[in-house]
Amino acid sequence: VSRTGFALAWITLSDKGSRGERVDESGPLVGEMVAGKLDLCYEQGYVIPDETGELKGLLTDLALNQGFDLILTTGGTGVAPRDITPEATLAVIEKRLPGFERAMTAASLSKTPHGAISRAVAGTLGGAVIVNMPGSPKAVAECLEPLLPTFRHTLEKLQ
Ligand code: MTE
Repeated sequence: VSRTGFALAWITLSDKGSRGERVDESGPLVGEMVAGKLDLCYEQGYVIPDETGELKGLLTDLALNQGFDLILTTGGTGVAPRDITPEATLAVIEKRLPGFERAMTAASLSKTPHGAISRAVAGTLGGAVIVNMPGSPKAVAECLEPLLPTFRHTLEKLQ
């Protein structure tokens, strides 16, 4: 399928959000920030529970069947018992992007020592780049900022 622009999916990992018990602003913020930097032809958001199988299945489907270019997750990167986002991501990615992870950690640590707690993972799957980010809107803004200038070139190289 030929098209102009990139397809973005964001996935918010939140047990409460998936039950409709809280409204999470981080996913829409991801959309706003990426759209300010890249031409997007399509954006789709998901709010799912912190379940390994569900996240692995969704990441794989979005990257390999639906052809999304950029898949950004928010939440579930810490050490709480239900935090499984990094494990599920590691289980499906093909090439890890440690530089993306370090860039997020560096930016985070320049803002707060709590930046050390996130175990966020980044990597590729098919033609998609997948990046985990912490759950709060503040953390999303701080982690996305250093990555925004890299997405276009990374996605061009992946094709
Ligand atoms: N990174 C940045 N840039 N800014 C933040 O405020 N919060 C931290 C950390 N990373 C934070 C951050 C905190 S308090 C936690 S517990 C971890 O991310 C994990 O967050 P998560 O479980 O919502 O993914």
